[in-house]
Amino acid sequence: MTNSTGSSSGVAVITGASSGIGKAFAERLASDGYDIVLVARRRDRLESVAREIKAAGASAEIIVADLAQSHGLDMVEQRIQAGDVSLLVNNAGFQTYMPFVDLSIDRAQEEVAVQVTAVMRLSHAALPAMIARGEGAIINVSSLLCFSGSLKSPFMPKRSVYAATKAFITMFSELLAAELQGKGILVQALCPAVVRTEFHDIDGKPVLRPNVPVMEPGDVVNASLAGLRQGDTICIPALEQVGKLSAVGDANRALFDAGRGAELAPRYR
Ligand SMILES: NC(=O)c1ccc[n+]([C@@H]2O[C@H](COP(=O)([O-])OP(=O)(O)OC[C@H]3O[C@@H](n4cnc5c(N)ncnc54)[C@H](OP(=O)(O)O)[C@@H]3O)[C@@H](O)[C@H]2O)c1
Repeated sequence: MTNSTGSSSGVAVITGASSGIGKAFAERLASDGYDIVLVARRRDRLESVAREIKAAGASAEIIVADLAQSHGLDMVEQRIQAGDVSLLVNNAGFQTYMPFVDLSIDRAQEEVAVQVTAVMRLSHAALPAMIARGEGAIINVSSLLCFSGSLKSPFMPKRSVYAATKAFITMFSELLAAELQGKGILVQALCPAVVRTEFHDIDGKPVLRPNVPVMEPGDVVNASLAGLRQGDTICIPALEQVGKLSAVGDANRALFDAGRGAELAPRYR
C-alpha cells in the first residue's frame, strides 16, 4: 500500500500531536494508512486523539513526553530507534512573542530544546533505519517567520528566539535534504504563516489581530503532503509564485559569492 508521501505505509511519529497542526497530521496520516505514534505532554489530549484514530480503524500509540527534558527526549528517541519509522513529523513547538530581555531565559532555553535540539536529535535517531531501507521522510515544522529577519514592521511580534529556532529548522532541513539526495529520503521544512491553533491562545483564549489571514491546520497538512510528493524541500502553504522562493536562493548565492574575498572591503578599511 502506498500512502500520502508516495512511499509504502509504515509508522509515522508526530510530535506535538495533542492539538493544532500535529493533531491534523495525525488524523490525515492515520486515514492514509500509517500506524501513528503521538507525542506530547498532555496525556488526556493524546488519549482523545488516539481514540479518534482507533475508532476510524487505524492504530495509535501515545508517548507522554516533554521534549524540553532529556528524559522525555530519550523516550521518543528510543521509540524511533526501534527502526520501523517511515515518517517523522517534528512539529512540537510554541511561541515566545515578546522582547528578548523580557523573556525568561529558562523559557528561551526550553524553546531551543524543543525547536532545535529535539528536531536535530529525533531526525538523527530516525535516519539510520530510513537510509538502510532506502525510504522515508522527515517533515520539520518551521514557520514563514524564518524569513522575517529583515522585516521591521511594528505590527510583527517580537520574536528573536522563536524565529531564530525556525531559521535553524529551515536551514537544517535544506542542507539535510541535499545530503540525503539519492538515498530515497525526503526532508521538508514546512513554513506556514498564521494558522488557527492554540499556538495563539493567551490564558486559553485565541488572540489574533483582526484582518490577519489565518489558514486552517488541515490545509497546512494538505500542502505539506502535496509538497512532499512534489519534492518541495521548503513548503510555504499559501505561496503560489514559487519564483519568490527561488529568488531567495538566488540572492543567497549572489551574496555568498560577493562576500568570499580574501581582502577587506574598502568600507571596512
Ligand atoms: N499556529 C501558527 O500560526 C503557526 C505558524 C507557523 C508555525 N507554527 C508551528 O507549528 C507547530 C505546531 O504548533 P500549532 O500551531 O499546532 O500550536 P498548538 O496547537 O499549540 O500545538 C503545539 C503542540 O506542541 C506540543 N508541545 C509544546 N511544547 C512541548 C514540549 N515541551 N514537549 C512536547 N510537546 C510540546 C503541544 O503539546 P502539549 O502542550 O500537550 O505538550 C502541542 O501538541 C509549532 O512548531 C509552531 O511553531 C505554528
